[in-house]
Amino acid sequence: MNTFSASIERSDTLRSAVNENPDRYRILTGERPTGLVHLGHYFGTVSERVRLHSLGVDTFVILADYQVITDRDAIGQVRDNVYSAVLDYLAAGIDPDRATIFTHSSVPALNQLLLPFLSLVTEAELHRNPTVKAEHAASGRALSGLLLTYPVHQAADILFCKGNLIPVGKDNLPHVELTRVVARRFNERYGDVFPEPQALLTSAPEVPGIDGRKMSKSYRNAIALSMTDDETATLIRRAPTDSERVITFDPDNRPGVSALLTTTALCSGVDERQLAAEIGDAGAGELKKITTEAVNEFLAPHRRRRNDFARDPDFVRCVLRDGNRRANEEATRTLDEVHAAMGTVY
Ligand code: TRP
Repeated sequence: MNTFSASIERSDTLRSAVNENPDRYRILTGERPTGLVHLGHYFGTVSERVRLHSLGVDTFVILADYQVITDRDAIGQVRDNVYSAVLDYLAAGIDPDRATIFTHSSVPALNQLLLPFLSLVTEAELHRNPTVKAEHAASGRALSGLLLTYPVHQAADILFCKGNLIPVGKDNLPHVELTRVVARRFNERYGDVFPEPQALLTSAPEVPGIDGRKMSKSYRNAIALSMTDDETATLIRRAPTDSERVITFDPDNRPGVSALLTTTALCSGVDERQLAAEIGDAGAGELKKITTEAVNEFLAPHRRRRNDFARDPDFVRCVLRDGNRRANEEATRTLDEVHAAMGTVY
């Protein structure tokens, strides 16, 4: 865990450097469009991304559609998920005139970087990657070549646009580490082309799913930003709690009740223990009522803006088309440099 606390420390220093000189940085970050953007994403990465974007940091957001099939066969409702995510980014405050929102599969030159990059890493290094190991174990399936090479294609996602600031949760730290290795080795072998990007760990607490387990689409325990107030109320009403009437914050022994308290705390800014004391012996029904109100109130402005954007599907398509065009320009320029460095120009 030493490397983890070192990363937090480094991130704090980095955060002040970015605050002082936002124009020296380019962010590249994004999501796998496996489902709807939820509160976990919001507090984990989206809000930090919007904060940096508002400071004036050049912003690239990748919708990593190829990454959907790293640990499963089915690509799912990928198109709907992509458009829905774009709506959430816009509603959260990403300005499409100053940001590049793009889909991974639409940028062929980005994906070509994978070939030279693969030559820079060993199979043993890939097998050692803790996130690859964890995702493989969770998938319950044979390790696919795509999952094994996950950190390398993520390196291509980051390096194609020479992103130098990568806001990520801790699951993605090993990928950024390997990206630095890939950049270093490429530069050593062929000459300076790539910056070594720095990971910016988000300090936000992990948001539990409303049943106390990890928030995950497959557990149906995630509050999507795009839900209506009623859908949110229904989901929270069905959350498992316990029969103890007095509400206390005790994540180990009372995961359900505690997850609702944490969700309420994040949305209302009132701390979990104070909320629990206020509810006292009014029971889980009252807790759920308070949680529902806090979430719906917190998300109301986001949902209002989101609905406004959703009324204009052409605009959303335009944002993505424009983002893909810009991403392709960047990728082509970088691939040209790579070809020049490698001597593969004919
Ligand atoms: N792997 C990231 C996730 O799990 C998504 C992602 C794809 C990403 N490419 C990236 C994040 C590059 C940061 C940088 O959500």
